[in-house]
Amino acid sequence: MRRWQGEDIWFGADYNPEQWPEHTWVEDVELMRRAGVNLVSVGIFSWALLEPVPGRFEFGWLDRVLDLLHAGGISVDLATATASPPPWLAQRHPETLPRRADGAILWPGGRQAYCPSSPVFRERSLALVEAVATRYAAHPAVVMWHISNELGCHNVHCYCDVSAEAFRRWLRERYGDLDGLNDAWGTAFWSQRYGDWAEVNPPRLAPTFANPTQQLDFLRFSSDEQRAQLRAEREALGRLVRQPITTNFMIGTGIKYLDYHSWAADVDLVANDHYLTAADPDSHLGLALAADHTRGVAGGEPWLLMEHSTSAVNWQPRNVAKTPGQLRRNSLAHVARGADGVLFFQWRASRAGAEKFHSALVPHAGPETKVYREVCRLGADLKALAEVRGSRVDAEVAILFDFEAWWGAELDSHPSADVEYADRLRALHHSLWRAGVTADVVHPSADLSGYRLVLAPTLYLVRDADAEALRAFVEAGGTALVTYFSGIVDEHDHIRLGGYPGAFRDLLGVRTEEFFPLRAGERVNLDDGSIADMWTEWLHADDAEVLASYADGPLPGVPALTRRTVGAGAAFYVGTRLDTAATDRLVARLVAESGVRPAVEAPAGVEVVRRRDGGRSWLFAINHTDDEARLDLTGTELLTGERCAGELVVPAGEVAVVREDPTAEPA
Ligand code: GAL
Repeated sequence: MRRWQGEDIWFGADYNPEQWPEHTWVEDVELMRRAGVNLVSVGIFSWALLEPVPGRFEFGWLDRVLDLLHAGGISVDLATATASPPPWLAQRHPETLPRRADGAILWPGGRQAYCPSSPVFRERSLALVEAVATRYAAHPAVVMWHISNELGCHNVHCYCDVSAEAFRRWLRERYGDLDGLNDAWGTAFWSQRYGDWAEVNPPRLAPTFANPTQQLDFLRFSSDEQRAQLRAEREALGRLVRQPITTNFMIGTGIKYLDYHSWAADVDLVANDHYLTAADPDSHLGLALAADHTRGVAGGEPWLLMEHSTSAVNWQPRNVAKTPGQLRRNSLAHVARGADGVLFFQWRASRAGAEKFHSALVPHAGPETKVYREVCRLGADLKALAEVRGSRVDAEVAILFDFEAWWGAELDSHPSADVEYADRLRALHHSLWRAGVTADVVHPSADLSGYRLVLAPTLYLVRDADAEALRAFVEAGGTALVTYFSGIVDEHDHIRLGGYPGAFRDLLGVRTEEFFPLRAGERVNLDDGSIADMWTEWLHADDAEVLASYADGPLPGVPALTRRTVGAGAAFYVGTRLDTAATDRLVARLVAESGVRPAVEAPAGVEVVRRRDGGRSWLFAINHTDDEARLDLTGTELLTGERCAGELVVPAGEVAVVREDPTAEPA
């Protein structure tokens, strides 16, 4: 791993100077300096300018931009510029264009119009990477390399003939021969048996449900093809440059089809882009989940927020602007949760193009604006927080997350279309948030030994080794919760027989003989007063204590919530979708039983997270309410420089970061 942290917390944006006349660049650097910007990502969508005709490179403008930034003391995260090919590529090589499942071609005119398996795209993009890297490897402004941009954002699945051939190669690698493939795909069903590799295709538009394992393997293949571009660019760069190399992931913005847990090994630092769901009044909860997941992907190491927005985006149905103070709360919440850099899309709001209504650090109205003033304030805040750089976030809870389980859980022809993979993840994470408890969102194969409590929401697909690791965690004294529709299938999407939740049946001491999904809007009551909806199941608590049973609905008297003592720990199962109040009660019980502690006791709506480095610790308090909050803390508040002795006051909508006195919190 190449070292990526600087002297301060990174602060900046995507910078697209090619959209502006050169005289603007001078003002840009001046405004960047005023705001405290120290890192910008340059060249992300510059391929068409850098290589206007195939093989002829024009670097003059980029030389001038990098020199200007360097003279202004601003570092550069330089893009490989391969994010979107120039129009000449498709015109000369139409076979590089991606195709949808129905055969329709996706044309240039937007961005990312290339087939991820195209050898022509690969060759041309690597030629560009080599040219850019050769020219700028030693440029003093360049401190980091940015491969492509959001790989697979728009072109993750391509069904063209080139992709079909690549899919066959991938399948041969995975299964060796057609017998292996036929077994894994269960092709005895519906006369699907393959006798020749040429018969095997991506799951193109079909008369009815395509084979689920074919679908799952195509999703795995598609993620791997995007990852292959990342690795190819990384290899090319690695030969030529010494700076750390990354690419921007899209964790927590609803992007489903890229298995970032497997990609993390290919970057020197994990970088993420996160955008709020503007329609959600509690969007800061989604932000916290995204950040905790990014940290989980990064293995607990600090990570870089590569993009978020100063205010509204342009691509949601109603692009709600950020209220005063929200930019600051959002940015510092990412830092609280492990980001050692806060960057935005983008520096200056575009005049033209599809993103002209997207917010920026310098809005259309210029620097005399709420946004630019808040940007300057944030720059000063981050400067004051430099000492937290490199520290790690305290978390005693892990939530298991597996992209493959997500893909599998939401395939078609399932018991209920209402089962959404991330639904329980969100519910449990939000409950913990309200309790002031921080959780890492990690892959099921992660080392669980450092946690007290592990939650497994909707872990539909699970490998034997990962199920076994959860059992070992509980036996050793941990507390675990498994929710409905978990442990159902193996990695081939084949049912684990003998009763659900197959992989976790023994651990939990329960056995479900039949699912009873509910009708839309139907609710059930439990005999402990809880309310639930959407899903119930005919469950036998063969070797578990029943904590609550259904009082009505299709299964009166049947257990809904169970607990089993296992070794030194305990394993809970919930077979229905509890409402928020009941989820909060369950989480409170799990937290109490496992001995997990909140970062600090805090009033409702005040987000609290602790970062720690050896004997030092910093408590972040983000007040999302309209009332002043008081917390029991002693130390130095870094954003104001003031002491707090026993009590910290956080005004409404404000943020405080306290370097705690060493005795304040036992390590
Ligand atoms: C990201 C992308 C940026 C910009 C931004 C707008 O997905 O990487 O280039 O499009 O969204 O929110």
